[in-house]
Amino acid sequence: MNSKKISLTGIKPTGMPHLGNYLGAIKPALEMANSGQYEAYYFIADYHSLTSVHKAQELNDYIYEVAACWLALGLDPSNVTLYKQSDIPEIMELNWILSCFSAKGLMNRAHAYKALSAENESKGRDTDHGINMGLYTYPILMSSDILFLKSDFVPVGADQLQHIEIARDLANAFNHVYGEVFTLPQAKVQEGELVPGLDGRKMSKSYDNHIPLFLTEKKLRKMINKITTDSSEPSEPKDPENSLIFDFYKLFATEQQIKDLSDWYKRGIGWGEAKLELFNVINEELKGPREKYNELMADRKLIDEILEQGAAKVRPRASEFLKEVKKAIGVI
Ligand code: TRP
Repeated sequence: MNSKKISLTGIKPTGMPHLGNYLGAIKPALEMANSGQYEAYYFIADYHSLTSVHKAQELNDYIYEVAACWLALGLDPSNVTLYKQSDIPEIMELNWILSCFSAKGLMNRAHAYKALSAENESKGRDTDHGINMGLYTYPILMSSDILFLKSDFVPVGADQLQHIEIARDLANAFNHVYGEVFTLPQAKVQEGELVPGLDGRKMSKSYDNHIPLFLTEKKLRKMINKITTDSSEPSEPKDPENSLIFDFYKLFATEQQIKDLSDWYKRGIGWGEAKLELFNVINEELKGPREKYNELMADRKLIDEILEQGAAKVRPRASEFLKEVKKAIGVI
């Protein structure tokens, strides 16, 4: 019998993941999978994107981009089951069942929905303006993603914590009525510093301060050059603890590199030089994966095959579990 705990996570394909996603969620999830201690299931949450992406070609491209990111960054399909949410229709059945155990008030309190409706209010619009039901019930679908595989751990960025709490709430609400059908999942959040964006706030697509993972070297360099600095002369000593460039550098550099750059700051470094050092450490980490990413995107058939194999592995488990749930509620 396999007694390994299950680690599961998903990425919503709304564009190429950025450095914040990589350091905060993708890298730790891959480390978990590669540790050999977990049975890992990582997926592409394409139906979640449908809450906001309504252009078919765009959505289709994003799906491949996210799959290629996982693979390029080291996901080994013989070790991790990689699949696409929309290939597992059982998730949608569970979505309905769970929605009948979700208080409407719970959805009213979900951060993403609340933020949008507050924004509407502040702009004097109807609070429901531009909010579809998919967005409103997003946390229920996410709970279904997590619960159908009896996941033990969900590696995610800190912004997803509330969603995992909701998944636990729904599992508890169901179990309370029918007995221990669902496993309660636990979030695994990467500890350490938040990844800053180009403007110093948390890196986020919605702040438009993000650096996409696989840019050409030229574009990556250009983005790094956009980081704002003060007007101090190159020869002036600088405080590494008060520098966005240095904060970034620490996320990618070795101990020794960090110490060397810190010394250079204190001796006096030109901002151009500091930016070049930063570019070099980021590029060093991403160069290999970037090549692999470009290869994968040029031959999407391989991605198709991997996703099909993943779905073929997951579906029997999904249908078996769904039977259990359907029995519990009395429809079979
Ligand atoms: N909501 C997550 C995000 O935006 C993506 C996601 C969907 C997910 N379903 C999931 C993450 C299940 C973990 C587990 O990043």
